[in-house]
Amino acid sequence: MAIAILTSGGDCAGMNPAIKQFVDYCFNKKIEPFLIYDGLEGLIDGNIKKASYDDVAGIMHEGGTKIRSSRSKRFFDLEYRKQAFENLQKHGIDKLIILGGDGSFRALDQFYKDFGIKFIGIPATIDNDIFGTEYCLGVDTALNIIREATDAIRDTSASFKRACVIETMGRDCGYLALVSAITCGAEVCMIPELDYDLEVIGKRLKQELKEGRKYIVCVVAEGCSKNRCTTTNELVRWLEEDVGIETRATILGHIQRGGNPTVYDRLMASEFVTFAIEEILKEDSESSVIVYNKSEFQFVSIDYVNSSKYEIKKELLDLARRLVN
Ligand code: F6P
Repeated sequence: MAIAILTSGGDCAGMNPAIKQFVDYCFNKKIEPFLIYDGLEGLIDGNIKKASYDDVAGIMHEGGTKIRSSRSKRFFDLEYRKQAFENLQKHGIDKLIILGGDGSFRALDQFYKDFGIKFIGIPATIDNDIFGTEYCLGVDTALNIIREATDAIRDTSASFKRACVIETMGRDCGYLALVSAITCGAEVCMIPELDYDLEVIGKRLKQELKEGRKYIVCVVAEGCSKNRCTTTNELVRWLEEDVGIETRATILGHIQRGGNPTVYDRLMASEFVTFAIEEILKEDSESSVIVYNKSEFQFVSIDYVNSSKYEIKKELLDLARRLVN
Protein backbone atom coordinates (compact mmCIF):
# COMPACT_ATOMS: atom_id res chain seq x y z
CA MET A 1 0.00 0.00 0.00
CA ALA A 2 1.28 3.50 -0.84
CA ILE A 3 0.30 6.90 0.58
CA ALA A 4 1.73 10.26 -0.40
CA ILE A 5 1.97 13.57 1.45
CA LEU A 6 2.08 17.07 0.02
CA THR A 7 2.04 20.63 1.35
CA SER A 8 0.01 23.29 -0.44
CA GLY A 9 -0.59 27.05 -0.24
CA GLY A 10 1.15 29.22 2.35
CA ASP A 11 3.78 27.23 4.24
CA CYS A 12 3.91 27.24 8.03
CA ALA A 13 6.00 25.92 10.89
CA GLY A 14 4.88 22.42 11.82
CA MET A 15 4.83 21.13 8.27
CA ASN A 16 8.26 19.50 8.62
CA PRO A 17 7.42 17.70 11.87
CA ALA A 18 4.24 16.49 10.11
CA ILE A 19 6.22 15.18 7.12
CA LYS A 20 8.67 13.40 9.44
CA GLN A 21 5.89 11.79 11.44
CA PHE A 22 4.18 10.75 8.21
CA VAL A 23 7.27 8.89 6.95
CA ASP A 24 8.19 7.35 10.32
CA TYR A 25 4.62 6.23 11.03
CA CYS A 26 4.15 4.73 7.57
CA PHE A 27 7.38 2.73 7.88
CA ASN A 28 6.23 1.50 11.24
CA LYS A 29 2.93 0.35 9.72
CA LYS A 30 4.69 -1.23 6.72
CA ILE A 31 3.12 1.23 4.30
CA GLU A 32 5.13 2.82 1.49
CA PRO A 33 5.37 6.60 2.08
CA PHE A 34 5.80 8.94 -0.90
CA LEU A 35 6.70 12.62 -0.89
CA ILE A 36 5.16 14.97 -3.46
CA TYR A 37 7.41 17.99 -3.92
CA ASP A 38 6.13 21.50 -4.83
CA GLY A 39 2.51 20.94 -3.79
CA LEU A 40 -0.17 20.52 -6.45
CA GLU A 41 2.22 21.83 -9.09
CA GLY A 42 4.59 18.95 -8.30
CA LEU A 43 1.70 16.50 -8.44
CA ILE A 44 1.00 17.68 -11.99
CA ASP A 45 4.67 17.54 -12.97
CA GLY A 46 5.29 14.14 -11.40
CA ASN A 47 7.70 15.45 -8.79
CA ILE A 48 7.08 12.41 -6.61
CA LYS A 49 9.65 10.41 -4.64
CA LYS A 50 9.49 7.30 -2.50
CA ALA A 51 10.52 8.50 0.97
CA SER A 52 13.50 7.26 2.92
CA TYR A 53 14.42 7.90 6.57
CA ASP A 54 17.17 10.12 5.27
CA ASP A 55 14.70 12.49 3.56
CA VAL A 56 13.20 13.42 6.90
CA ALA A 57 16.18 13.12 9.23
CA GLY A 58 16.91 16.31 11.14
CA ILE A 59 13.92 18.29 9.88
CA MET A 60 11.82 18.27 13.06
CA HIS A 61 13.13 21.66 14.23
CA GLU A 62 13.08 23.40 10.84
CA GLY A 63 10.46 25.89 9.70
CA GLY A 64 8.88 25.90 6.25
CA THR A 65 8.36 22.69 4.33
CA LYS A 66 11.18 20.47 3.05
CA ILE A 67 8.93 19.23 0.25
CA ARG A 68 8.13 22.82 -0.69
CA SER A 69 4.73 24.27 -1.57
CA SER A 70 2.91 26.11 -4.35
CA ARG A 71 -0.33 27.87 -5.16
CA SER A 72 -1.45 26.02 -8.27
CA LYS A 73 -3.70 27.56 -10.89
CA ARG A 74 -3.15 24.66 -13.32
CA PHE A 75 -4.85 22.21 -10.95
CA PHE A 76 -8.21 23.90 -11.76
CA ASP A 77 -7.84 22.49 -15.25
CA LEU A 78 -9.09 18.89 -15.77
CA GLU A 79 -6.29 18.16 -18.26
CA TYR A 80 -3.65 18.81 -15.60
CA ARG A 81 -5.59 16.87 -12.96
CA LYS A 82 -5.61 13.93 -15.36
CA GLN A 83 -1.84 14.25 -15.70
CA ALA A 84 -1.58 14.32 -11.88
CA PHE A 85 -3.68 11.15 -11.65
CA GLU A 86 -1.47 9.35 -14.14
CA ASN A 87 1.60 10.33 -12.12
CA LEU A 88 0.08 8.79 -8.99
CA GLN A 89 -0.86 5.64 -10.90
CA LYS A 90 2.76 5.15 -11.96
CA HIS A 91 3.69 4.80 -8.28
CA GLY A 92 0.58 2.88 -7.23
CA ILE A 93 -0.53 5.74 -4.93
CA ASP A 94 -4.26 5.94 -4.26
CA LYS A 95 -4.32 7.92 -1.01
CA LEU A 96 -3.10 11.41 -0.18
CA ILE A 97 -2.50 13.46 2.94
CA ILE A 98 -2.45 17.19 2.25
CA LEU A 99 -1.40 19.99 4.57
CA GLY A 100 -2.89 23.33 3.57
CA GLY A 101 -5.99 25.49 3.62
CA ASP A 102 -9.57 25.13 2.42
CA GLY A 103 -8.66 26.11 -1.15
CA SER A 104 -6.29 23.14 -1.35
CA PHE A 105 -8.92 20.84 0.15
CA ARG A 106 -11.45 22.00 -2.45
CA ALA A 107 -8.96 21.29 -5.22
CA LEU A 108 -8.34 17.74 -3.97
CA ASP A 109 -12.06 17.18 -3.48
CA GLN A 110 -12.53 17.85 -7.19
CA PHE A 111 -9.63 15.46 -7.88
CA TYR A 112 -11.36 12.80 -5.74
CA LYS A 113 -14.61 13.32 -7.67
CA ASP A 114 -12.72 13.04 -10.98
CA PHE A 115 -10.48 10.05 -10.25
CA GLY A 116 -11.40 8.58 -6.84
CA ILE A 117 -8.12 9.46 -5.10
CA LYS A 118 -9.06 9.55 -1.42
CA PHE A 119 -7.44 12.18 0.78
CA ILE A 120 -7.38 13.63 4.27
CA GLY A 121 -6.81 17.38 4.68
CA ILE A 122 -4.83 18.69 7.62
CA PRO A 123 -5.55 22.38 8.36
CA ALA A 124 -2.20 24.14 8.17
CA THR A 125 -2.11 27.91 7.89
CA ILE A 126 -0.89 30.67 10.18
CA ASP A 127 -4.15 32.53 9.43
CA ASN A 128 -6.24 30.13 11.58
CA ASP A 129 -9.16 30.86 9.27
CA ILE A 130 -10.52 27.42 8.38
CA PHE A 131 -14.15 26.86 9.29
CA GLY A 132 -14.80 23.87 11.57
CA THR A 133 -11.51 23.76 13.48
CA GLU A 134 -10.33 25.78 16.45
CA TYR A 135 -6.70 25.24 15.52
CA CYS A 136 -4.64 25.14 12.35
CA LEU A 137 -1.06 23.92 12.35
CA GLY A 138 1.52 26.72 12.48
CA VAL A 139 -0.52 29.26 14.40
CA ASP A 140 1.29 28.84 17.72
CA THR A 141 4.70 29.35 16.11
CA ALA A 142 3.50 32.43 14.21
CA LEU A 143 2.04 33.89 17.40
CA ASN A 144 5.31 33.34 19.23
CA ILE A 145 7.25 35.05 16.44
CA ILE A 146 4.86 38.02 16.57
CA ARG A 147 5.21 38.11 20.37
CA GLU A 148 8.99 38.18 20.20
CA ALA A 149 8.95 40.94 17.58
CA THR A 150 6.36 42.98 19.45
CA ASP A 151 8.26 42.71 22.74
CA ALA A 152 11.38 44.00 20.99
CA ILE A 153 9.54 46.83 19.23
CA ARG A 154 7.94 47.85 22.52
CA ASP A 155 11.43 48.15 24.10
CA THR A 156 12.58 50.66 21.52
CA SER A 157 9.24 52.51 21.43
CA ALA A 158 9.39 52.98 25.20
CA SER A 159 12.94 54.29 24.96
CA PHE A 160 11.81 57.06 22.62
CA LYS A 161 8.29 57.80 23.90
CA ARG A 162 6.94 56.63 20.57
CA ALA A 163 3.97 54.73 19.24
CA CYS A 164 4.44 51.70 17.05
CA VAL A 165 2.05 50.19 14.55
CA ILE A 166 2.66 46.48 14.04
CA GLU A 167 0.93 44.85 11.07
CA THR A 168 0.40 41.10 11.23
CA MET A 169 -0.54 38.65 8.48
CA GLY A 170 -3.80 36.69 8.47
CA ARG A 171 -5.33 37.51 5.10
CA ASP A 172 -8.98 38.50 5.87
CA CYS A 173 -8.89 37.02 9.35
CA GLY A 174 -7.88 39.03 12.44
CA TYR A 175 -7.00 36.04 14.65
CA LEU A 176 -3.22 36.58 14.70
CA ALA A 177 -3.57 40.30 15.43
CA LEU A 178 -6.24 39.76 18.06
CA VAL A 179 -4.37 37.13 20.07
CA SER A 180 -1.13 39.09 19.70
CA ALA A 181 -2.73 42.32 20.91
CA ILE A 182 -4.17 40.57 23.96
CA THR A 183 -1.03 38.64 24.85
CA CYS A 184 1.46 41.43 24.14
CA GLY A 185 -0.43 44.07 26.11
CA ALA A 186 -1.22 46.33 23.16
CA GLU A 187 -3.11 49.57 23.66
CA VAL A 188 -4.93 49.33 20.32
CA CYS A 189 -6.06 46.35 18.23
CA MET A 190 -7.57 46.71 14.78
CA ILE A 191 -9.05 43.67 13.09
CA PRO A 192 -11.76 43.22 10.43
CA GLU A 193 -14.01 41.48 12.97
CA LEU A 194 -14.26 44.43 15.39
CA ASP A 195 -15.73 47.84 14.64
CA TYR A 196 -13.59 50.70 15.77
CA ASP A 197 -13.86 54.45 15.89
CA LEU A 198 -10.58 56.32 15.55
CA GLU A 199 -12.06 59.38 17.22
CA VAL A 200 -13.00 57.44 20.34
CA ILE A 201 -9.65 55.59 20.47
CA GLY A 202 -7.80 58.87 19.90
CA LYS A 203 -9.55 60.53 22.83
CA ARG A 204 -8.57 57.65 25.13
CA LEU A 205 -4.95 57.64 23.99
CA LYS A 206 -4.58 61.41 24.39
CA GLN A 207 -5.93 61.16 27.93
CA GLU A 208 -3.53 58.29 28.74
CA LEU A 209 -0.59 60.28 27.32
CA LYS A 210 -1.61 63.24 29.48
CA GLU A 211 -1.60 60.94 32.49
CA GLY A 212 1.96 59.80 31.75
CA ARG A 213 1.77 56.99 29.20
CA LYS A 214 5.22 56.66 27.58
CA TYR A 215 4.50 54.58 24.48
CA ILE A 216 1.65 53.04 22.50
CA VAL A 217 1.55 49.63 20.86
CA CYS A 218 -1.02 49.32 18.08
CA VAL A 219 -1.51 45.89 16.45
CA VAL A 220 -3.32 45.86 13.13
CA ALA A 221 -4.36 42.89 11.00
CA GLU A 222 -3.41 42.97 7.31
CA GLY A 223 -7.08 42.22 6.53
CA CYS A 224 -7.96 45.47 8.20
CA SER A 225 -5.26 47.43 6.53
CA LYS A 226 -6.10 46.05 3.08
CA ASN A 227 -9.87 45.76 3.12
CA ARG A 228 -10.99 48.58 5.38
CA CYS A 229 -10.34 52.26 5.09
CA THR A 230 -7.48 52.45 7.60
CA THR A 231 -4.15 51.37 6.16
CA THR A 232 -1.05 51.02 8.29
CA ASN A 233 0.33 54.24 6.83
CA GLU A 234 -2.88 56.07 7.63
CA LEU A 235 -2.68 54.84 11.21
CA VAL A 236 0.83 56.23 11.50
CA ARG A 237 -0.38 59.60 10.20
CA TRP A 238 -3.35 59.55 12.57
CA LEU A 239 -1.18 58.73 15.60
CA GLU A 240 1.29 61.48 14.74
CA GLU A 241 -1.15 64.19 13.69
CA ASP A 242 -4.30 63.52 15.73
CA VAL A 243 -3.01 61.74 18.80
CA GLY A 244 0.26 63.66 18.81
CA ILE A 245 2.93 61.00 19.27
CA GLU A 246 5.91 60.18 17.09
CA THR A 247 5.22 56.83 15.42
CA ARG A 248 7.00 54.08 13.52
CA ALA A 249 5.41 51.19 11.62
CA THR A 250 6.60 47.61 11.20
CA ILE A 251 4.99 45.24 8.73
CA LEU A 252 6.05 41.88 10.11
CA GLY A 253 5.49 40.11 6.79
CA HIS A 254 6.90 36.69 6.02
CA ILE A 255 8.97 36.29 9.19
CA GLN A 256 5.63 35.16 10.66
CA ARG A 257 5.57 32.17 8.31
CA GLY A 258 9.07 30.87 9.10
CA GLY A 259 10.98 29.96 12.21
CA ASN A 260 11.47 26.81 14.27
CA PRO A 261 8.18 25.14 15.13
CA THR A 262 7.18 25.44 18.79
CA VAL A 263 6.73 22.33 20.93
CA TYR A 264 2.97 22.75 20.57
CA ASP A 265 3.12 22.76 16.76
CA ARG A 266 5.46 19.74 16.73
CA LEU A 267 3.07 17.80 18.94
CA MET A 268 0.00 18.90 16.98
CA ALA A 269 1.75 17.91 13.74
CA SER A 270 2.34 14.40 15.10
CA GLU A 271 -1.22 14.03 16.27
CA PHE A 272 -2.84 15.44 13.13
CA VAL A 273 -0.78 13.12 10.91
CA THR A 274 -1.18 9.99 13.00
CA PHE A 275 -4.97 10.32 13.20
CA ALA A 276 -5.11 11.19 9.49
CA ILE A 277 -3.19 8.05 8.48
CA GLU A 278 -5.31 5.84 10.72
CA GLU A 279 -8.47 7.31 9.20
CA ILE A 280 -7.42 7.07 5.56
CA LEU A 281 -6.52 3.39 6.04
CA LYS A 282 -10.08 2.52 7.05
CA GLU A 283 -11.88 0.78 4.19
CA ASP A 284 -15.10 2.74 4.62
CA SER A 285 -13.64 6.19 5.31
CA GLU A 286 -14.48 9.13 3.07
CA SER A 287 -12.22 11.97 2.00
CA SER A 288 -12.37 14.46 4.84
CA VAL A 289 -10.64 17.13 6.91
CA ILE A 290 -9.27 16.45 10.37
CA VAL A 291 -10.32 19.19 12.78
CA TYR A 292 -9.39 19.96 16.37
CA ASN A 293 -12.01 21.23 18.78
CA LYS A 294 -12.22 21.22 22.57
CA SER A 295 -9.05 19.08 22.82
CA GLU A 296 -10.40 16.42 20.46
CA PHE A 297 -9.69 15.41 16.87
CA GLN A 298 -12.61 14.65 14.57
CA PHE A 299 -13.18 14.18 10.85
CA VAL A 300 -15.59 16.42 8.97
CA SER A 301 -16.60 16.54 5.33
CA ILE A 302 -15.00 18.93 2.85
CA ASP A 303 -18.48 20.35 2.22
CA TYR A 304 -18.81 21.15 5.91
CA VAL A 305 -15.46 22.99 5.97
CA ASN A 306 -16.51 24.96 2.91
CA SER A 307 -20.05 25.62 4.13
CA SER A 308 -19.26 28.72 6.15
CA LYS A 309 -16.71 31.40 6.90
CA TYR A 310 -14.49 30.94 9.95
CA GLU A 311 -15.51 33.18 12.82
CA ILE A 312 -13.40 34.08 15.83
CA LYS A 313 -15.27 33.06 18.98
CA LYS A 314 -17.07 35.83 20.81
CA GLU A 315 -15.28 35.27 24.13
CA LEU A 316 -11.94 36.00 22.48
CA LEU A 317 -13.29 39.06 20.67
CA ASP A 318 -14.71 40.33 23.97
CA LEU A 319 -11.22 40.30 25.51
CA ALA A 320 -10.12 42.90 22.96
CA ARG A 321 -13.18 45.17 22.89
CA ARG A 322 -11.55 47.65 25.27
CA LEU A 323 -8.73 48.05 22.72
CA VAL A 324 -11.05 49.39 20.03
CA ASN A 325 -12.72 52.15 22.00
O1 F6P B 1 -2.24 32.36 4.02
C1 F6P B 1 -1.02 32.62 4.61
C2 F6P B 1 -0.51 33.99 4.22
O2 F6P B 1 0.75 34.18 4.84
C3 F6P B 1 -1.44 35.16 4.53
O3 F6P B 1 -1.42 35.54 5.88
C4 F6P B 1 -0.92 36.20 3.60
O4 F6P B 1 -1.92 37.13 3.27
C5 F6P B 1 -0.51 35.41 2.39
O5 F6P B 1 -0.32 34.06 2.83
C6 F6P B 1 0.75 35.86 1.72
O6 F6P B 1 0.95 35.08 0.60
P1 F6P B 1 2.30 35.05 -0.24
O7 F6P B 1 3.34 34.34 0.58
O8 F6P B 1 1.94 34.30 -1.47
O9 F6P B 1 2.69 36.46 -0.47
